[in-house]
Amino acid sequence: MTEIMPHQNAIDCQNLWKIFGARADEALVAAKNGEVDKDEALKRFSCVIGVADASFSVAEGEILCIMGLSGSGKSTIIRHVNRLIEPTDGQILIEGRDVMGLNPKELRQLRARKIGMVFQHMALWPHKSIADNVAFGLEVQKTPKGQQRAAAESALEKVGLGGWSDRYPDQLSGGMQQRVGLARAMAADPDILLMDEPFSALDPLIRKDLQDEFLKLSREVKKTTLFITHDLDEAMKMGDRIAIMKDGRIDQTGTPESIVLRPETDYVSRFVSSISTLKYISASEIMTPGKAKSGAPEFGASTPLPVLLAAFTEGAEELAITDGETHLGRISSTDILQAVQTDLKRV
Ligand SMILES: Nc1ncnc2c1ncn2[C@@H]1O[C@H](COP(=O)(O)OP(=O)(O)O)[C@@H](O)[C@H]1O
Ligand SMILES: [Mg+2]
Repeated sequence: MTEIMPHQNAIDCQNLWKIFGARADEALVAAKNGEVDKDEALKRFSCVIGVADASFSVAEGEILCIMGLSGSGKSTIIRHVNRLIEPTDGQILIEGRDVMGLNPKELRQLRARKIGMVFQHMALWPHKSIADNVAFGLEVQKTPKGQQRAAAESALEKVGLGGWSDRYPDQLSGGMQQRVGLARAMAADPDILLMDEPFSALDPLIRKDLQDEFLKLSREVKKTTLFITHDLDEAMKMGDRIAIMKDGRIDQTGTPESIVLRPETDYVSRFVSSISTLKYISASEIMTPGKAKSGAPEFGASTPLPVLLAAFTEGAEELAITDGETHLGRISSTDILQAVQTDLKRV
């Protein structure tokens, strides 16, 4: 058993590299020295750089979205978390414990109890009832029958499929089958959920329903979630924070607000340029220094723009931004109009 280190994070990924190919070790050295990028590694070493020096952490109860185009390395990262694949270099820690240090029994425990996984296409057993599909993991662990049934029903209830226990997969729509997949991942009540494009194959409206329901459920059960998507809007909606990947690297990690308002690379900039900033701007971004007129309504620095806008439509002439005690600045209707104008120009 490896030593348990002090931790606050549920998942820590530290300088993770995954290079596919027989000459991965040589390619790793060259890539670390900056001698080869993804294209060059393929040419010189016939190796594919899947993940390049990726670091991130997920706090307990947090949803971290990894967003990137197809082939950017998202699935490769997530497969390391429960050690479905092994890193070329770097570390994955679960609650401070290196997954590469786990013995076979501990690894089985990790996969069966600690972590639940949901994929884009959850394959269900056609001849098993919905409840038996959901309880499959528990059956493998030889959980007593009665307990299996209760856990399956409770998980089905959570995903909005209470009452469907005795039906069969072919009686369910695609969206419902994904719900069953989620229920299966949740049946053992894992602390961590790994979700690899769970809603990507669904029609837009059904997808929106599942996103909304998952967010609601997530607030209730507070599971640490690594959520993968290639869709920026989905990432903005689902993530407490977002990590944006390009060619195996993580370009930027931050809250949805910071990604949209303060992109750090050209790539992220281009990516977020189609998203309106208006929902993400808060008072601190548009206030000007100075004290507002006496009697001006007061708001905190983190008040979102739509709320500030409403104050003007309700008749305010100016807003005072304060931290409750000190004046931080003021906002005029012109400040708001300028923010709208800037946004309209970029979208
Ligand atoms: N088993 C493998 N062998 C070789 N290359 C792989 C393998 N798995 C993934 N890759 C490559 O690694 C890169 C990242 O793939 P992947 O993690 O599946 O991307 P994503 O999930 O973001 O679409 C891609 O270039 C892909 O072709
Ligand atoms: Mg993938």
